[in-house]
Amino acid sequence: MHFLRMTSFCLSDATSVTASANTSSSAPFPLDSRRSVPARLLGEPGPDEAGLLRLLQSAVRVPDHGKRVPFRFVRIAGPVRERMGEALAAIALRRDPGASQAVLDKERQRFCHAPVVVAVVAVLDPLDRQIPEQERLLSAGCTCFALLQAAQSMGFGASWLTGWPAYDPEVHALLGMSAHERVAGFVHIGTPTAEVPERDRPDPRALLTDLVL
Ligand SMILES: Cc1cc2nc3c(=O)[nH]c(=O)nc-3n(C[C@H](O)[C@H](O)[C@H](O)COP(=O)(O)O)c2cc1C
Repeated sequence: MHFLRMTSFCLSDATSVTASANTSSSAPFPLDSRRSVPARLLGEPGPDEAGLLRLLQSAVRVPDHGKRVPFRFVRIAGPVRERMGEALAAIALRRDPGASQAVLDKERQRFCHAPVVVAVVAVLDPLDRQIPEQERLLSAGCTCFALLQAAQSMGFGASWLTGWPAYDPEVHALLGMSAHERVAGFVHIGTPTAEVPERDRPDPRALLTDLVL
């Protein structure tokens, strides 16, 4: 029942937003079922052009202080994934000349499992003195999470990953990033090839305290 209510919340106009919250219900709602699907378990098909734009339509709907839109997206899909893998292996070898073939092969595969990988780039204007950089970075992070949610809602699986390539200047150059940009994450999207077991989740009761003054 809660699920249906959420659905109408999403699709209808602003008047629904004023509907009173059902705070007593323990029924699950869609957020409760989100889980990552490891990249190696993501196969074809991935979202096509229209599908990805639909996902991004949801992903950009994030809290954004001052409407800075501090994010953009770089799609890594199709044959470019293998070329990116070769580039990663070359960079990895420069970083560690003693890297084994197994390590380099893993780098070659890094972006080749899921059909689509979206690099979410945080765009952090250094001249912006009004909105703290942290807030803009958080908005970019929110788009990663929203993209995960949207992908799962559309029947795909997804994973938000970083690893060393997210922080490497040579990778940044390949992605066409400028000095004031950072990788918020690589969101790998595809069709799950296996069921992913649930993992332990934090108990919110252990995390919640009341301010006492
Ligand atoms: C910013 C960020 C970067 C992450 N990078 C990695 C990563 O490089 N490798 C990895 O195994 N998990 C990474 N994770 C964790 C996964 O996205 C995911 O949360 C984890 O596998 C647990 O799955 P769950 O989303 O179902 O809880 C990252 C998470 C965040 C928020």
